Amino acid sequence: MISSRKRSTRRFTTLAAKDTSGKLRFGLIGAGAIAQTYIQAFEHCSAARLVAVADLRIEAAQRIAERMRCRSYDRIERMIAGGEIDAAIVCTPPITHPEICIRLMEAKLHVICEKPFSIDLDGANRMLEISRRTGMKLTMASKFRYVEDVIRAKSIIASGVLGELVLFENEFVHRVDMTARWNSRREISGGGVIIDNGAHSVDLMHYFLGPLSEIQAVEGRRAQGLQVEETACLLARSVSGVICKVDLSWGLCRQHDSFLNIYGTRGAVSIGWKKSVRRDFAHQEWIRFGSGYNKVQAFRSQIENFARAVRGQEPLLITADDAVASVRTIGLAYESLRQNQWVKITNAFSPGQNSERDPSRNTVPRNPYEVLQ
Ligand SMILES: NC(=O)c1ccc[n+]([C@@H]2O[C@H](COP(=O)([O-])OP(=O)(O)OC[C@H]3O[C@@H](n4cnc5c(N)ncnc54)[C@H](O)[C@@H]3O)[C@@H](O)[C@H]2O)c1
Repeated sequence: MISSRKRSTRRFTTLAAKDTSGKLRFGLIGAGAIAQTYIQAFEHCSAARLVAVADLRIEAAQRIAERMRCRSYDRIERMIAGGEIDAAIVCTPPITHPEICIRLMEAKLHVICEKPFSIDLDGANRMLEISRRTGMKLTMASKFRYVEDVIRAKSIIASGVLGELVLFENEFVHRVDMTARWNSRREISGGGVIIDNGAHSVDLMHYFLGPLSEIQAVEGRRAQGLQVEETACLLARSVSGVICKVDLSWGLCRQHDSFLNIYGTRGAVSIGWKKSVRRDFAHQEWIRFGSGYNKVQAFRSQIENFARAVRGQEPLLITADDAVASVRTIGLAYESLRQNQWVKITNAFSPGQNSERDPSRNTVPRNPYEVLQ
């Protein structure tokens, strides 16, 4: 008698083998919280399809496999050996990202890696180097860049109607209990809300403003008693002279309508959760230009951009170099927190040299997440 797992695997093998759609075939690695959004994104996806899912917790992988009619695996090596995927999305905790992504690229698979790309610059640089050597496409998943209103705002700014940009304001502030989650374990996450939500903020700053010249982080009260920061403010300045103010928190109940406001000398854009508006300072009224944040749409657009980039049909919106720049800037935000002062952003900086940020660097197990299982 065969087990139910073997039965389902055989049935779905037949389905996967019959695929003649020409869509890029993806494997999902990690079947936890964010994987649930990816599976919604794959529904109605025109350029890609999900054919396999792997998780150390095989039951979690099997639940997704049942729903998506695809194969499930308990180990990445077995998924790779299965031979049915062209690319993978890595949705595991951050400490695991470099090792998993490198293994996938060495097996000639293209990779979308969830943010934060890596908890340190050393891991990020190794991923970039392997991507260059193997020729495999590598990107960091950073959903806000794929929100339609964010892309529209970028076009509005490019048209020049806002004049010269002056101020970038962003907040990702949501109350969430992190006491029992890996996000508050530095050896797994690399830090607290700065690396977690702040990875999105830094990517948006780079997208709208280009490179940054300096950054300062300030930490707030640790009301949840976490080992890592749970509330922080980032101040930054772009090379082009724009001031950036970012509020990040896992601890506050503060829900503003917009998460990103950009002000220029002649007007402003405000990108909201439910709608986005812009204003020319010569007129009183705000003009609506979009319907706000749609998470599943953003994930789907990201997968489609990646799939088309692999096919050579369009450029990749977030390159591996962008991902490394994001890791470098986050590392400098932590350096600023440690020094309690502004820190210049230069390419020469290596967070790997910063013993404060990752004090247990040489003593933690290779994959502390597996130790938790
Ligand atoms: N883009 C977003 O909006 C967003 C939101 C939440 C999380 N994330 C990111 O997604 C990633 C995962 O976060 P999550 O909240 O889904 O975590 P999670 O803990 O809910 O899920 C992670 C899953 O990975 C599995 N896993 C761990 N190591 C593995 C390995 N070596 N091989 C196979 N499976 C393994 C775990 O068993 C678990 O099921 C993180 O990088 C996180 O920062 C992004």
